[in-house]
Amino acid sequence: MIDPAVHERLLLAARAAAENAYCPYSRFRVGAAVLADGQVFSGCNIENASYGLTICAERVAVFKAISARCRRLEAVLLVCPDAASDGALATQMPCGACRQVIAEFGAPDLPVIVQGVKLFRLSELLPNPFELDQASRPAKSELA
Ligand code: THU
Repeated sequence: MIDPAVHERLLLAARAAAENAYCPYSRFRVGAAVLADGQVFSGCNIENASYGLTICAERVAVFKAISARCRRLEAVLLVCPDAASDGALATQMPCGACRQVIAEFGAPDLPVIVQGVKLFRLSELLPNPFELDQASRPAKSELA
């Protein structure tokens, strides 16, 4: 559970963001909102003619928070207004790349709400995120 007032703020922000989605190729709008340092940052998916350059709504929202100097995510919420109401759960879940990006700034118990589906904890969605162990890396001089 998260505070219902926080949930409402995230939901409104994510819904509004989804309206701004640029998705002429998939015609599948996604809206995301994150809470960080008490502030809400939202994002939509932004597609590109060279499909691979498309960025997901979650990463836009996370990067907006990080670029505002926030470093710790407190909650994430996702809406997919174009997902079929009787469609597969998978059509609304955050992609693997976004899970890894969220994990960079979120604790394992970070709530990730997939609106209309359920509240997941980040560790359920990505149990073993990649982490770089700085200490075990060779010194720059050893790489020459
Ligand atoms: N999409 C997201 O915005 N987030 C995800 O986690 C998965 C997919 C977008 C990318 C693309 O614009 C559209 O959904 C269809 O893949």
